[in-house]
Amino acid sequence: MKQILIINGPNLNLLGKREPTIYGNRSFVEYLETLEAKFPDVQLRYFQSNHEGELIDKIHELGFDIDGIVINAGAYTHTSIAIADALSAVTAPAIEVHISNVHARESFRHHSYLSAKCKGIVVGLGLMGYEMAVRYLMDNE
Ligand code: DQA
Repeated sequence: MKQILIINGPNLNLLGKREPTIYGNRSFVEYLETLEAKFPDVQLRYFQSNHEGELIDKIHELGFDIDGIVINAGAYTHTSIAIADALSAVTAPAIEVHISNVHARESFRHHSYLSAKCKGIVVGLGLMGYEMAVRYLMDNE
């Protein structure tokens, strides 16, 4: 069975409560149940942290053994060369996801250190972006 790691970075533990006009009303834990039901043939591993080093540790821990990584690094997307290096270091292909359309928001959200290390990017399609990323990894990796 394929294994895919979904990683959420800082403040994404507050999905459902945090700025719902931008990020929606659903918690990620609730959404994850829907996702698991849609992909019975994949083992989804989920990790969320507000700490950069913990995100890197998880990429190192699983990134050589799993079939793919779906990563929404939150604000670290725009600042973290270290997370970009971790994605380069491991063998699992990664897809970058953003719930909101970062290109329609403040200019500091327009640049991502992670994009160049990822196979693809899903931006601005809400939580459905995670489903699209998992589907790609299921069908192509
Ligand atoms: C986000 C966009 C980032 O700019 C922001 O810092 C987040 C969430 C998104 O999913 O839209 O925390 O990654």
